[in-house]
Amino acid sequence: MTDLLTTARRHFAAGLIAPRRSVALARFDAHGPRLFELLSSLYALNGGVTEPIRCLLAGLAHAINQRPDDLFELDAARPADWLDRTDMVGYSTYVERFAGTLAGVRERVPYLHALGIRYLHLLPFLKARAGDNDGGFAVSDYGQIDPALGSNADLDALTTDLRGHGISLAADFVLNHCADDHPWALAARAGDPHFRQFFHVYTDRAQIERLEAELPQVFPESAPGNFSFVPELDAWVWTTFNPYQWDLNWSNPELFQHMALALLNLANRGVEVFRLDSAAYLWKRDGSDCRNLPEAHAVLQALRALLDIAAPSVALKAEVIVPLSEVSPYFGTGDQAGKECQLAYHSSLMAASWAALAEQRAEIVADVIARTPAPPAGCVWLNYVRCHDDIGWWVLREEAAGRTGHRGFDLARIARFFAGSEAGSYAEGEAFQSTDPHVFHGSNGMTASLLGLHRALAADNDDAIELATRRHLLLYAITLSAVGIPQIYMGDEYGLGNNHEYRDTADADGRGLHRPVMDWQLAQASTFNRLRSGIERLIQARRHCASLRPSTPMRALTFSQPALLGITRGEHFIGLYNLGAQPMTFDLAQLPSLAGQHWRDLLHDTACPSTFTLMPYDLRWLAST
Ligand code: GLC
Repeated sequence: MTDLLTTARRHFAAGLIAPRRSVALARFDAHGPRLFELLSSLYALNGGVTEPIRCLLAGLAHAINQRPDDLFELDAARPADWLDRTDMVGYSTYVERFAGTLAGVRERVPYLHALGIRYLHLLPFLKARAGDNDGGFAVSDYGQIDPALGSNADLDALTTDLRGHGISLAADFVLNHCADDHPWALAARAGDPHFRQFFHVYTDRAQIERLEAELPQVFPESAPGNFSFVPELDAWVWTTFNPYQWDLNWSNPELFQHMALALLNLANRGVEVFRLDSAAYLWKRDGSDCRNLPEAHAVLQALRALLDIAAPSVALKAEVIVPLSEVSPYFGTGDQAGKECQLAYHSSLMAASWAALAEQRAEIVADVIARTPAPPAGCVWLNYVRCHDDIGWWVLREEAAGRTGHRGFDLARIARFFAGSEAGSYAEGEAFQSTDPHVFHGSNGMTASLLGLHRALAADNDDAIELATRRHLLLYAITLSAVGIPQIYMGDEYGLGNNHEYRDTADADGRGLHRPVMDWQLAQASTFNRLRSGIERLIQARRHCASLRPSTPMRALTFSQPALLGITRGEHFIGLYNLGAQPMTFDLAQLPSLAGQHWRDLLHDTACPSTFTLMPYDLRWLAST
């Protein structure tokens, strides 16, 4: 190891320019040992610097040399806990749906800033496969912006502008797979054995049947199975998602080298957070379900170590939509704690909030909160109500089966509820990847439509509009008060509804239902004032409430009223949420451990009476001094 490190350091140092040399070498000395331990565990380096590793080191030095001065300064200035701020509120959107192009997004930066956004996640904007491309998640070139969305210069201009407004750009890094028209895939198709090794290719049908037996399916109805037959190869290619998304072979060190350098290159364009798409699937091992394998973690840790050397101000976000117990290891465990991803989606809390609302049972959320581990220092959970994907129910399997110590619940019924097919449902969503009403997979739909706002508007029913608005604010208030940082999905800030046109497009993926075009007129329309101002008030109140720092410990409270949820943050904040359709009376004496303090109603800026009524789907944020 020492010889390897010494040789590696020499190769690295040889590529550095003088003005960056001392900082870069100091960082290499701090993080190089960890990097090489990880690389040695993943790839047979046989004690020497192999060709891909030599290229990696040359590329690493080049990335540092090329890093723009302002980003290089940000690297030095940014504190390790930069995400741990009460004003850190995210927003997620498609470039094209939001504003047409990257230049269009730039024009909307003041809008985002005024809303209180400090973190903008733009869904994939790199050159994507022609035709069907899974909303850009089939990348054909990791170094180029999709020409329909702009140019690399447009990205540079956007990130500079965002930084000027105190907004960090998060971009997808689609690292589990590339498009079947990526040059690597084209070369493999053309018979190049070198590039064939960039993918997982099988000629033996019996072998893929054996593998398949252990593997779950992501799109069981639209893209069943995990392998696709490719006639030019006369073989099957591993395709976890769609047949045109070829899983990359991370056990090939050359693939690691290319992907790692593509990441550093994008970091130099001002991307401050990478959303590591489908990170759970990176490594494959015969006889396993090929999710969350230790090597997948090692790959992410190695990418983190490279960033620590080349662009330490950049954070990694794990997109791993798996049960709760399998998510927190992506923050890093043991001596790697805090040295993997700095953010991870809390999809269990998201799905549990929807389930609890449908069932009017607070305990469903309280159970998830009680089992939510505190991330290591510098790391945060990412909370959300909706995103561009379906609400995936699979993450709640354990909870629904009653295996976490609480009464279970019926996820298929909940999926039917949000598809509007259960009695008493207000929802206008659709089931995803499950035509069988007794099977659950996911639910599609925009927040406002799933909560009945558009149905109520169409019926011109003021009472129903009020209830739907309260449900919307309730879910967002839970998200904004939970441990971690919250993220708003495009248009949810004013109640944008379902996109029914999606069925007319060539790729009628059901998730198109919640991928509407931003309606800027509607965004300003007075019909939506109550919702819009409610969201703004929550963001503002959060910003000024020190207890709502992302790292402040969270606890859930349940009460004699089954629909009532309490979320405390530290000793001085409590959020009360009525998840039910009935009003209830609340007495502050119901807060045993916190009783006796003077509580203020944060959203109304008044003293809180000792007894008050929580209307259906109502909420209170209380803070004590
Ligand atoms: C992630 C994305 C999803 C996409 C999949 C395959 O889960 O969020 O939209 O279909 O990865 O790239």
